[in-house]
Amino acid sequence: MPATVVVGTQWGDEGKGKLTDLLAAEMEYVVRYQGGHNAGHRIVVDGEAFALQLVPSGVLYPHLTPVIGNGVVVDPAVLLRELDTLIAKDVDVSRLVVSGNAHLIMPYHQELDRVTERHLGKNALGTTKRGIGPAYADKATRVGLRVQDLLDPKIFQEKLDMALREKNALLSKVYNRLPMKSKEITELYIGELAPRIAPMIGDTVTLLHDALARDERILLEGAQATFLDLDHGTYPFVTSSNPVAGGACTGSGLGPRDISRVVGIAKAYVTRVGAGPFPTELDGELAELLVDRGHEYGTNTGRRRRVGWFDAVMLRQAARLNSLTEIAITKLDVLDTLETIKVCVGYESGGKRFDYPPYHQSTMHDVTPIYEELPGWQSDLSGFTSFDDLPTNARDYITFLSKVTGIKISVVGVGPGRDQFVQPS
Ligand code: GDP
Ligand code: IMO
Ligand code: MG
Repeated sequence: MPATVVVGTQWGDEGKGKLTDLLAAEMEYVVRYQGGHNAGHRIVVDGEAFALQLVPSGVLYPHLTPVIGNGVVVDPAVLLRELDTLIAKDVDVSRLVVSGNAHLIMPYHQELDRVTERHLGKNALGTTKRGIGPAYADKATRVGLRVQDLLDPKIFQEKLDMALREKNALLSKVYNRLPMKSKEITELYIGELAPRIAPMIGDTVTLLHDALARDERILLEGAQATFLDLDHGTYPFVTSSNPVAGGACTGSGLGPRDISRVVGIAKAYVTRVGAGPFPTELDGELAELLVDRGHEYGTNTGRRRRVGWFDAVMLRQAARLNSLTEIAITKLDVLDTLETIKVCVGYESGGKRFDYPPYHQSTMHDVTPIYEELPGWQSDLSGFTSFDDLPTNARDYITFLSKVTGIKISVVGVGPGRDQFVQPS
């Protein structure tokens, strides 16, 4: 049975956790393929909220095997804290498998993330300061430590000491910080964390291919989103991995022909945390209203999210970058009180119209959105269970989004709960 990918199509926080949880009911495996604990995926089941960072959102189903793939960067202390929080809520986490090839986030990665952001001053990217960028940088320069190194104290020590020679010089000579002590890091990673992580470490590539051979179903859960992608996002205001569907292959070890379904996920409007261009961004009262009604504060970092109108230009681009087979729209209910709603259908810059984002950053920073305005429905959608029963203006809004993006919409969220969604026929 070929695999399904869930991928964010905007700048993150589209509701990937909720959609993954929804689709996971029908899956045997849910796999995170990139990112780390910069992600915050919130799921609400029977009124109880779960905020997941590293553990795949399928973990709540007892029948399913959650997998942390090779493309993820893992802070083992954060992983164990998250597992403890889940255990305290009676979630069985014993089936989790972590790829031995995933890279470790080390204490110096977090410190470097913090100091480089400070060093950038007004040009700071607004990262989550979780060490994501520095960990992926070490992976690319081939000096990273991997999860499998936790199983071999000698190799761990050698690699750590080699890394610390460079990191400590950087921290103390460039950033004026105290050097880090090898002994303290080894005591934490090998002494405290490794014994608990060791039983979870495995060969996830073989695990997943064996599952496919048995005709079992795999869901690949993206973190971040298409426009935070290192290659295709609004560089440099991006994360350091490839959230796009192609990243699901490299980050899990499945091949392109192992994937048959790619579900793009988008809010009925747009949000963004951190710096970078945002053509449809709103301010003033309307922004306050959306932030307030949508609870637009980071799931883990608590940062206020910037908000704006739905942007069909981005969605068209996301459709081709990810080979989307469909889109799920979330948070339609957040727009319930609006008299009218705008949708960006194109960009304009220098007298030229763009149906796709311009590749050049200077043009992208300069574009003016071209809007179409639709009437709102001004009623509470949160209790609806059938698409056909929605108010006409709400149905028309969804039909319009499908028309201007050119993609089928398969699910529409009307509240955070697991059951709060409707499905257009
Ligand atoms: P993710 O990072 O893509 O998993 O998204 P987050 O969990 O960071 O942010 C999405 C937020 O929207 C969470 O608080 C969800 O509980 C919430 N949410 C998801 N779908 C809906 C929806 O259809 N309506 C409303 N009101 N909230 C939703
Ligand atoms: P989920 O999976 C929203 C943003 C940060 C920053 C940029 C780089 O919950 O959708 P990083 O720490 O990754 O180096 O930061 O990316 N960012 C996210 N924004 N949702 C996320 O994850 C994000 N993960 C990173 O705010 O702008
Ligand atoms: Mg999130």
